[in-house]
Amino acid sequence: MLSLNMFRLLRNKLLTSALQCSSSHGLQVQSRAAATLHLLHNCLELTYEESPMRFNYMWLRDHCRSESSYNHKTNQRNLDTGSIDLTIRPVDTKLEDDHLLLTWPDGHMSKYKLAWLAENSYERKKQKVVNERILWNSDIYNKANIQSAKWDKFMSCDDELKRFLQNYLLYGVAFVEDVPATVEATEAVALRISLIRETTYGRMWCFTSDHSRGDTAYSQLALDRHTDTSYFHEPCGIQVFHCLKHEGSGGRTLLVDGFYAAEKLRQKSPEYFELLTKVHIHHQYIENTDGHRNHMTAVGPLLEVYPWSTELYMMRYNNYDRSVINTIPHDVVQRWYVAHKELTAELRKPKNELWVKLKPGKVIFIDNWRVLHGRESFTGLRQVCGCYLTRDDVLSTACGLGVHLGS
Ligand SMILES: [Fe+2]
Repeated sequence: MLSLNMFRLLRNKLLTSALQCSSSHGLQVQSRAAATLHLLHNCLELTYEESPMRFNYMWLRDHCRSESSYNHKTNQRNLDTGSIDLTIRPVDTKLEDDHLLLTWPDGHMSKYKLAWLAENSYERKKQKVVNERILWNSDIYNKANIQSAKWDKFMSCDDELKRFLQNYLLYGVAFVEDVPATVEATEAVALRISLIRETTYGRMWCFTSDHSRGDTAYSQLALDRHTDTSYFHEPCGIQVFHCLKHEGSGGRTLLVDGFYAAEKLRQKSPEYFELLTKVHIHHQYIENTDGHRNHMTAVGPLLEVYPWSTELYMMRYNNYDRSVINTIPHDVVQRWYVAHKELTAELRKPKNELWVKLKPGKVIFIDNWRVLHGRESFTGLRQVCGCYLTRDDVLSTACGLGVHLGS
């Protein structure tokens, strides 16, 4: 038992060992993993597999996985975090069989697998990629020669769905072909991977160039590259399009990997990349047509990164829907415009543009947090249906199928 005044440097060393048997050769192989522990005044320092990590004592008590602290059936915390003494320290500590054992002042014992601690440490987390991605320009994408999923297999075979989702998550865009050219079949394809996110446009929407809504999408005009619903506090995660009919010319869909362009900006002008992650600006959607009255506004930066690693996870880029900039002083405004122009120049490089002709039967899924879309102008009747999905639901389906997400 350690007394509290022994919380000066304490060093425990342990060599944990595990035996593995190879029955085919009858050979016993011994592997040994070294773990070292230091108790510092404000944290516990663990070196495991040669990686040093530091754990706050309050965190360790809060993350106890004993039955009384954590419900393993529901994967929810039982412990009332608010009741823990903020100055808590363990009174006893042990390293035993690849586990860390702590005894707390009230006699409660916590047991943590060292591998679990390492996996959940800040030091390990900041080195991990949350979402592995293959960034692309048109050349990279075309050379990857990614096969579209086929409707019948996609609807009936989980392996096909898994392959589709893996491609989708890597590239931010994926196709299903041979889908019947109906709203119902498009809905069924979407429901195969996610709940549908209902918005002001409806659950499943269908549009032509009839100007029925107060949005340029409902015209024959060209649309520059953009992400959708930047005026939502959580922009829609995925966009699904299916061109059901087009009797005319033009109307190709433009796709640009926004993260590819943003990473180019990060390499070239890191200060501008950082500025675009820091400056929050408003986007808005104001509609006042017969039967449709909407006024939505949301605020967020153009580029969103995970603060612990600066990995990009979302881009809001919609010059149509960008609202008044009034969240930054005038001198920052000037720098913001320079940063915006540099990013725009990257996004507009012809070599970064992937042009796709959507046709009946070909459903496209676009990661609306990453891949920008646009279209060229067109003539004639063009009918497109689709819907929005939430990124969370798609990721949940992918996890359930065992799709590899990150490192
Ligand atoms: Fe759009």
